Amino acid sequence: MKTKLTKRLRILCGEIPVCDIFADVGCDHGYCTQYTLEHGLCRKAYISDISAKSLQKAETLLAPYIAEGRVESVCCAGLEKIPREAEAVMIAGMGGEEIISILKNGFLPQKLLLQPMQNVPKVRAFLLENGYAILRDFTFQDGKYYDVLFAERGGAGRKYDARSIEFGYDNLHSPSEDFRLKVEEDITKCRARLERAGKPVPAVEERLRVLAEIRDEIARGV
Ligand SMILES: C[S@@+](CC[C@H](N)C(=O)[O-])C[C@H]1O[C@@H](n2cnc3c(N)ncnc32)[C@H](O)[C@@H]1O
Repeated sequence: MKTKLTKRLRILCGEIPVCDIFADVGCDHGYCTQYTLEHGLCRKAYISDISAKSLQKAETLLAPYIAEGRVESVCCAGLEKIPREAEAVMIAGMGGEEIISILKNGFLPQKLLLQPMQNVPKVRAFLLENGYAILRDFTFQDGKYYDVLFAERGGAGRKYDARSIEFGYDNLHSPSEDFRLKVEEDITKCRARLERAGKPVPAVEERLRVLAEIRDEIARGV
């Protein structure tokens, strides 16, 4: 059955690397694993979810692949039952803190595709501190704004400064229209917060200053 993916899932699937064993942690529906198999991106895949009910959806979708042994389904928290030979691990749609905790309590796979819902700078910092090179790092819009990170252990990485950790390397170095819009929206939110406060709020003023700088750099094509 052909699945019609949402824009968010299309973008995520477009970042899945070619690999031997793929694992989708917190797979829910299983659409990303279906895409991976249909596009010949992996030899074998693991689907996992902490919720048996969610995992059931993926098991139903991927039943023919499970029958032929190309997909194994494991109900567990994080990476608990995912074998370490899983070369590429995807964790999407969870909070950044949760993703970091899954990696700390599990293992550090060779390739990671992450889509944290919050605390994205913390995830970038964690990856860099743990020997990953972040090779893709951008914001996109699909109703709301999402961030996607693709990282590989070892190898030459791009140089992340404090600003790249905060806003995302590709957003700053090759800004998309989606990121430009997000910066504009964040500027409006900061201004509204300051207006509501009716007094100086240094943290918000500093955020506004940095955002305005980024907006101006994007406008100048710097
Ligand atoms: C919002 S859904 C995202 C589903 C899919 N990854 C996506 O991006 O469309 C989050 C899924 O992660 C599962 N989940 C949450 N915490 C988890 C954990 N610690 N380990 C494994 N699965 C988890 C939930 O049960 C849920 O199915």
